[in-house]
Amino acid sequence: MKLITAVIKAHKLDDVRAALTWFGIRGMTITTVLGCGTEFWHTETYRGTRYISDLTSKIRIDIVTAETDVGDLVEVIAKAATTGGSGDGKIWVTPVDQVIRIRTGQYGPDAL
Ligand SMILES: Nc1ncnc2c1ncn2[C@@H]1O[C@H](COP(=O)(O)OP(=O)(O)OP(=O)(O)O)[C@@H](O)[C@H]1O
Ligand SMILES: [Mg+2]
Repeated sequence: MKLITAVIKAHKLDDVRAALTWFGIRGMTITTVLGCGTEFWHTETYRGTRYISDLTSKIRIDIVTAETDVGDLVEVIAKAATTGGSGDGKIWVTPVDQVIRIRTGQYGPDAL
């Protein structure tokens, strides 16, 4: 099993969720996060005051999935999250040792 983590633009969440649903993914964790990429910084105005910010609000999606689905899923997420501009996001994949469905006590891929 693998954990796919995607950090995407907030306004692309609906598109990515629709693509994931179409792919058959049901379980996922979605978090609002602050992040920065390779851009150095930009200025923002908040209540009339300008300040320098290097952090942007993004959506983080975590999906634990069978190893065989990783390639396709990464492609589906990347395609749905693309605007073509900078800051479209990043996807990374990490190994997962174990998953447990608390209600049934199932372990491993059966618990996904
Ligand atoms: N190396 C990294 N490690 C962890 N999170 C990252 C990393 N790079 C980017 N992120 C996360 O992804 C978000 C989007 O990154 P972003 O798409 O701007 O990356 P980038 O490398 O600057 O690419 P681009 O040139 O397309 O903007 C960041 O706000 C941050 O939350
Ligand atoms: Mg960037």
